[in-house]
Amino acid sequence: ENHAIPHDRSLDNSIALMREGYHFMQNRVNKYHSTIFAARLLGEKVICMTGKEAAEIFYDTNRFKRKGATPKRIQKTLFGENAIQLMDGLAHTHRKKLFMSLMTPKHQAELAALTKTHWEMARKNWEESKQVILFDEAKLVLCRTACKWAGVPLKETEVKERAEDFNAMIDAFGAVGPRHWKGRRARTRAEHWIQSMIEDVRANKIEVQKGTAMYEMAFYKDEIGQPLSSLIAAIELINVLRPIVAISTFITFAALALHNYPICKEKLFESDDAYLDMFVQEVRRFYPFAPILGARVKNNFIWNNCNFEEGTLVLLDVYGINHDPTLWDKPNDFHPERFKQWKGNLFDFIPQGGGAPETGHRCPGEGITIEVIKASVQFLVHHITYQVPTQNLHIPMNRMPTFPESGFIIENVKEKT
Ligand code: HEM
Repeated sequence: ENHAIPHDRSLDNSIALMREGYHFMQNRVNKYHSTIFAARLLGEKVICMTGKEAAEIFYDTNRFKRKGATPKRIQKTLFGENAIQLMDGLAHTHRKKLFMSLMTPKHQAELAALTKTHWEMARKNWEESKQVILFDEAKLVLCRTACKWAGVPLKETEVKERAEDFNAMIDAFGAVGPRHWKGRRARTRAEHWIQSMIEDVRANKIEVQKGTAMYEMAFYKDEIGQPLSSLIAAIELINVLRPIVAISTFITFAALALHNYPICKEKLFESDDAYLDMFVQEVRRFYPFAPILGARVKNNFIWNNCNFEEGTLVLLDVYGINHDPTLWDKPNDFHPERFKQWKGNLFDFIPQGGGAPETGHRCPGEGITIEVIKASVQFLVHHITYQVPTQNLHIPMNRMPTFPESGFIIENVKEKT
């Protein structure tokens, strides 16, 4: 027993987590006046922690491992079973190198250029419709973009269904019931589709360029020289495609920010890349996406008067750290200029995880995410004009993942001349 840290006495907090969503951790941190507390969650004893120091500990691979940290329900929807998110040690760093090699600045620029092209193509179709839902359009645009970039053939007739499946896998992560089952069915379908592609690539039945994600996943050899099974190769290729589609959430939030803070839109219109950079960072900090992350204690240790016993599940408050008042001045204000002062720490700004991506589990796709949001914001600011009709823009914080309820409707979209 840990007597030095507060214990939440609830029998089990799983329902509270669903009900409080992104605020679950901060609500208890505030209640107990402690950045660390113990609770029962998902049927077991867990340690919850927030703050920059907690993030540093969490990303120490001598203290934490990922094996057994992800519930099956998330493996069967969001990640895929036996995927990189669940690996440790040399096998993990070796596979991580593969992901990192697909996301270099050159790849980022290619993806951003494709994103712009596909937004332009989409815009031409909008001229016939009075209104469009930006979130839905972004998913289609990014699904086409991701597949093209990754070397995955995609017929225009299947775009909608594939995009919806990628989205359903993401939408399932904080869900029980129908949303969860939808995510599972979506994953099964996507895995069949991509697995047969991988097999065709290996059998030389479809041509794909070296250097694309599809090629590199199909022909990757692990740390002992073994190729991946076609299923694992498919799961990892989906680990590239799905999160690109997920950027649609940040794009929708970016559009909301342009609407809510017209001064930012003006600055974006007039200013250079430096302001665009800060705007995109603030979108990733301010709006909710990844709520918490989990890992298990690798070896017993004591930190902050708390006993971390081997095997214990530990949860890190990702959303809370991005809104921590000891790290961010007026954290609930949307203020891109705050990034002028930010020194680029690996543990205080963690919308896509913390630490170094090469050695730990931090997202390898941050550069890509930033460039795709930038390309999309430039499209919204410089290439089109539109109106934002009255609609429900509320972001429910008890839904994970969340987004503005209307999906952000725009109307009278015209090319800027
Ligand atoms: C890992 C968030 C975009 C690929 C992660 C993690 C988070 C995250 C929170 C887990 C970090 C950890 O476990 O410590 C996001 C968000 C995105 C995004 C919010 C915006 C939409 C992308 C993109 C890609 C990508 C565009 C690839 C093209 C991955 C992979 C991992 C990962 C492969 C697993 C890394 C590992 O386990 O070592 N991401 N990500 N993500 N992300 Fe992203």
